[in-house]
Amino acid sequence: MKTGKHELQVWVLIAAWLYRMHFVIFIFMERDLQVQISKKTNLIHSQTAKKVMDKSSGNTRIIIKPSCNATYLIWIVTSYAGDPSARSALRRAYTNEELQTLGIGRVFLLGTLNDDAKDRTHVSQKALLDESRRFGDILQGNFLDTYRNLTHKHLMGLRWAINNCEGVKYIMKMDDDIVVDIYGILEKLHSSVIEKDSLIGYSMRNMIPVRELANKWYASKMEYAGNIYPDFISGWLYVTSPQIANWLTNYAETSSKYFWIDDVFVTGILRKDLNIKIRDISEIYTTDYRYLECCMKGRTNLLKCEFLIGPNGGDAELQVRFKKFAKFCHANCSMRDENNLVGKTCVVAYKKPQLHKGTFQINPIKIL
Ligand SMILES: *[C@@H]1O[C@H](CO)[C@@H](O)[C@H](O)[C@H]1NC(C)=O
Ligand SMILES: *[C@@H]1O[C@H](CO)[C@@H](O)[C@H](O)[C@H]1NC(C)=O
Ligand SMILES: *[C@@H]1O[C@H](CO)[C@@H](O)[C@H](O)[C@H]1NC(C)=O
Repeated sequence: MKTGKHELQVWVLIAAWLYRMHFVIFIFMERDLQVQISKKTNLIHSQTAKKVMDKSSGNTRIIIKPSCNATYLIWIVTSYAGDPSARSALRRAYTNEELQTLGIGRVFLLGTLNDDAKDRTHVSQKALLDESRRFGDILQGNFLDTYRNLTHKHLMGLRWAINNCEGVKYIMKMDDDIVVDIYGILEKLHSSVIEKDSLIGYSMRNMIPVRELANKWYASKMEYAGNIYPDFISGWLYVTSPQIANWLTNYAETSSKYFWIDDVFVTGILRKDLNIKIRDISEIYTTDYRYLECCMKGRTNLLKCEFLIGPNGGDAELQVRFKKFAKFCHANCSMRDENNLVGKTCVVAYKKPQLHKGTFQINPIKIL
């Protein structure tokens, strides 16, 4: 009996460990969908990051500065300077004119490209200036647009929004490869189930730092000493108030802390120090773009989708298609009933992780 009990304990430990590892691997692979920067660059930077970025930078020098037209919500989108395709899709999905009628202003957060990146992406600074002139929605900071500068970008966006968008109720931060039903989001915000004194989004708990050097999300012990990240909300998309954003950025600018994984740092480390609450609304997120495809099929039966947010799965145009569905259904569809939810009825085949392409998107619950 005694050995049996021990064995059981061991198995429980192994199971718990596997579960946690799985979750960590899942989320950090998910994030491969973000800004695409070569592995090589990251590895080099990982060695210098600590030295280069010991200062938090709300004090980032701004190269291109837009005006803020938002009256209700300012939507800041982290975007890789070298890849205009996601920005283009977002602008076509939700035009500045339409957003303005909704009281929303949208601004893309960019860094700068070095010569190597300019050659590789064929995006020049002049092209970015042209883009800015045309759309008036580019905020560019004077730092290299790399993974390990993501926190600079994130804080720059919050700081700009606070200083320039007087009177807005909300700040919404998003990554440019995330698909969103903005009408659904507005409905949620208007219905005011949401407390203003919190960060609202997909809550991440008990995440373990990746310690494998080759992983894009590798964090050295120097960068982050702990064994577990504080609870944070995913940088995919979150909503907060200018007040909370102000606390976070003020604190970041005066504190000596810095960690380059931006959502962990801003919505985890800083948030925890300041005792800001998290409000989890993960039920409106899907982690697999194919659920969004299933959502869109509901249009013929005039059914809304419970998911308002998901990754684009590497296809920037999904944003445009999903928006059309969302707009149509906002006006014409009804809620699904409990048994007919997309999450329950959509059949998604298991897809082998494709590490290099970063298209691995599986809901962890489904694999277990
Ligand atoms: C903001 O408003 C100004 C003036 O109305 C306009 O020229 C500009 O294009 C707007 N920017 C955005 C991003 O909507
Ligand atoms: C971040 O940006 C600064 C300023 O351009 C640059 O010197 C540094 O190399 C960048 N850091 C990383 C890790 O890319
Ligand atoms: C709602 O449905 C009607 C009839 O099909 C259509 O004409 C209208 O454009 C739809 N509304 C939206 C916002 O798409």
